Amino acid sequence: MNVKFDFSGDIAVIIGAATGIGRGTAIEFAKAGATIIICDYNEKDGAQTAELAKEAGAPKTAFYPINTTDAESVAKARDAIIKDFGRIDCMFINAGVSAANDQLGPPLCGIALDDFKRVFEVNFFGTLRCLQAFEPVFMKQKAGKIVVTASISAHMLNPTMPQYSASKRAIINLVQATSKELGAFNVNINILNPGFVYTPMYQKGGMAFKDKFPDRFAAENDPESIMKKLASQSVFKRPQTPQDMANAVMWLCSDGSKEITGQELNVDSGIIRR
Ligand SMILES: NC(=O)c1ccc[n+]([C@@H]2O[C@H](COP(=O)([O-])OP(=O)(O)OC[C@H]3O[C@@H](n4cnc5c(N)ncnc54)[C@H](O)[C@@H]3O)[C@@H](O)[C@H]2O)c1
Repeated sequence: MNVKFDFSGDIAVIIGAATGIGRGTAIEFAKAGATIIICDYNEKDGAQTAELAKEAGAPKTAFYPINTTDAESVAKARDAIIKDFGRIDCMFINAGVSAANDQLGPPLCGIALDDFKRVFEVNFFGTLRCLQAFEPVFMKQKAGKIVVTASISAHMLNPTMPQYSASKRAIINLVQATSKELGAFNVNINILNPGFVYTPMYQKGGMAFKDKFPDRFAAENDPESIMKKLASQSVFKRPQTPQDMANAVMWLCSDGSKEITGQELNVDSGIIRR
């Protein structure tokens, strides 16, 4: 049986939707009839995602620039969204960055503190800024669903990108801590941990794995093959797609998950358990 979501009449806000998982999720929400609001600092690709969502069936779409490293831009977008749309039913906080290509470990002592700061600034503090800005909206509404992207990296022994893994683990703790206070306002907040999804994040960073571990990736000559090799360690030995992530996000935003809050959903072909 195929699951068919129906979000008609709902307003979905996706932060970090110019490309990759966020874009894919915007398109799937659009197919399910939601009004789609895209927020990102990449204005060109963000506006294109809004167009694609419109083509996919969203009754209405909009783009608001947000840089999650800047609290003022997040607050400005929030105020504009509420002025224009009045409420938010589903929010997907997904903006994130990876380690810089020349800042892979091990060893830990070879990674610049500045790269830890850069990654935390977007992944952890960016998520925090979004939660702090939008929390009052959800508290006032006394309704709504929030999903935040962390990563399987938060749980794996990953000496290659400790700055990334630690930032994602911090997100999980933050979301779980927040779930109790939001629960008092009838708001669910959960975490999506993607496994391996071929997106611009890998397109930009994949070859750095080969530079760092030439023997391990001797047969792989492009970033997608490198990601597939990493994903081959999973139970189903395959990578995931943005649609796989969208399905999980939409379920977490649906009535089907109304008793679920403060939880992590690993969409990873079982790699965490291996
Ligand atoms: N691709 C994977 O396999 C994978 C695995 C685990 C977790 N993730 C996480 O999934 C999320 C989406 O990543 P993706 O793989 O789709 O890569 P991506 O680079 O395509 O998407 C990241 C999005 O966040 C936006 N963004 C980054 N910094 C921002 C900022 N300061 N302000 C506003 N927008 C910002 C980018 O413009 C982009 O639209 C990230 O949080 C990433 O860490 C991805």
